[in-house]
Amino acid sequence: MDIKQPIKRQSLADIETQAARVAAMMGHIRAAMLPPTAKKSPPTLSALQLAQLCNVDKAKIAYRMTRGDLPAGTMQGNRREWTMSAAQQWARELRSSHMRPAGAAGITITVSNFKGGVAKTTTAVTLAQGLSMRGHKVLLVDLDPQGSATTLFGVLPDAEVDHEHTAMPLFTGEHDDLSYAVRPSYWPGIDLVCAAPLLFGAEFALPARQTRDAGFEFWRCLDRGLDQARSDFDVIIIDTPPSLSYVTINALMAADGVILPLPPSALDFASSAQFWDLFSDLCNQLIRSRGQDKSFEFIDVLLSRVEANDAASSVVRQWVLEGYGDKVLPIEIPKTSVTATASAEFGTVYDLPRGSMNARTFARARDAYDRMCELVEQQIEAVWANQVESLGG
Ligand SMILES: Nc1ncnc2c1ncn2[C@@H]1O[C@H](COP(=O)(O)OP(=O)(O)OP(=O)(O)O)[C@@H](O)[C@H]1O
Ligand SMILES: [Mg+2]
Repeated sequence: MDIKQPIKRQSLADIETQAARVAAMMGHIRAAMLPPTAKKSPPTLSALQLAQLCNVDKAKIAYRMTRGDLPAGTMQGNRREWTMSAAQQWARELRSSHMRPAGAAGITITVSNFKGGVAKTTTAVTLAQGLSMRGHKVLLVDLDPQGSATTLFGVLPDAEVDHEHTAMPLFTGEHDDLSYAVRPSYWPGIDLVCAAPLLFGAEFALPARQTRDAGFEFWRCLDRGLDQARSDFDVIIIDTPPSLSYVTINALMAADGVILPLPPSALDFASSAQFWDLFSDLCNQLIRSRGQDKSFEFIDVLLSRVEANDAASSVVRQWVLEGYGDKVLPIEIPKTSVTATASAEFGTVYDLPRGSMNARTFARARDAYDRMCELVEQQIEAVWANQVESLGG
């Protein structure tokens, strides 16, 4: 193979210049892709989509509209459309039996796997969008210094995220509760705690606090910091970096439920074994050695980025089913081209407007994510039911 150019030694100053050039490009790219205001906007819903969301037929929507107490939407040409927040009002009313009951707390779900690129962020963001469409109030906490979830929400980690927009002040001890960092997002019903590279500092701040104060439990910092959010939100979703870092341990310790996205490849399967092994070692060292314990309401293994007709993945799928048994969610997320275009990569399947692409490809991806959200919602509802029962008992 030809060498592209004579090799050139790169100094730290060169790297700094390079970093600045790519960061500036990101600003331009975002401005070009999210015209005209460089702000994202959520899609609108048709009558059919609204009916599907509320699990009723279109006639029921038309009939219910005559009462006049729910948003009527607006006519666009000859079809009626509802904004995302109007659709959520309908969902809360028509799906009222699925909403958080009085006395129940918000459920924290951590999406984690220390392998990179397994679809953690995609899973966290689509789950946040799917649950909010179903009427739940969602907080998305981005704990990955890469800020990928933050970027998907149309916020640039490098240029637009400051210390106090992130969980960093919680980890340094400037705040005890994360509420200071909660901001609304472009998507109604989802609030956001952003991440940026500065969050790497937590990997130093947390062990330093532990050294100064032996009574400090670094792994409980986030769990304690979510007290207010657990009453303000129905669901808290945490996206984590691809490592078992101090921050990831906090996210797992704060979780009621864990979702481990896992592509059916041999290396990813092997890595997942190490993840659980290391995690249980850590729990023994930190928690059980102190006579304490930690349990999860649910742990879900989600087969992600599954390639249809791939012989290797069907073998590994068998390993996953055998190894993880009933933890494996009965839905597979197909590897899909729906978010493969450059501009769509700044969003998820739920951001795409209707008819923006091949209908069958879109439906296949969308149906899988809808089912994932439905399965997770069922588990959340089961936890709430238990909470309410134990209150009464
Ligand atoms: N079902 C899918 N089909 C095709 N591409 C996908 C799918 N899910 C995710 N991707 C793509 O795979 C890449 C990695 O996804 P994502 O960022 O969600 O992974 P991650 O686990 O959060 O990565 P990281 O470890 O860097 O945080 C992205 O480009 C994303 O668009
Ligand atoms: Mg990610």
